[in-house]
Amino acid sequence: MEILSLIGSPRKNSNCEIIVDEIAKGAEENGHTVTKYIIHDLDVAPCSGCELCNKGNDCRYEDDGTEIIDKLANGASVILASPIYFGQMTAQAKTIVDRFYSIFNNPEKSFGEDAKAAIVLTHAFTGSYDPYLQLTITQPFQNNLQMELVGTIDAGDLKMPGEAKEREDILKEAYEFGKNF
Ligand SMILES: Cc1cc2nc3c(=O)[nH]c(=O)nc-3n(C[C@H](O)[C@H](O)[C@H](O)COP(=O)(O)O)c2cc1C
Repeated sequence: MEILSLIGSPRKNSNCEIIVDEIAKGAEENGHTVTKYIIHDLDVAPCSGCELCNKGNDCRYEDDGTEIIDKLANGASVILASPIYFGQMTAQAKTIVDRFYSIFNNPEKSFGEDAKAAIVLTHAFTGSYDPYLQLTITQPFQNNLQMELVGTIDAGDLKMPGEAKEREDILKEAYEFGKNF
């Protein structure tokens, strides 16, 4: 199965990317292919709400988001990773999630029946962002996309880029987690 890792951090050497790369290692050892997209480095327009997709048309935007959307509409699974910015996912992460609407809202398209999802949040706060994580799991993933949730990683006490490399606990959790795909 192809798994798309969608990285919502704008930083180089981001904690999100380090954690997702570890998940990918576990998943690849299970025979899956993982393709990484750093959304900040791509040209992905935000949804304009035009509703063209509601009439069975492709999204009006043909940009770097198109490849991601096409792969999801062809059955790919997804790992969505984002740092917490002011209590929520980044604008980069939300921009690509909103483009999922062009599949959900399109009567001619659907996500794969066996598609799976995983969510990674990184943050500086030492506690948990569980209420926000639960909201993200529920919508869009369970309510709209009906993807089976493989799991989540809520990685706190991370501030500077690269810090996740020193966190054996998180890296181990991520690797094991990848094995669940
Ligand atoms: C604009 C901005 C807003 C942030 N807001 C929060 C926040 O609300 N809660 C929190 O715990 N950390 C917050 N942080 C810290 C990041 O979530 C943290 O540094 C995280 O490890 C970044 O992950 P990354 O390396 O994958 O980008 C914020 C950072 C920035 C730059």
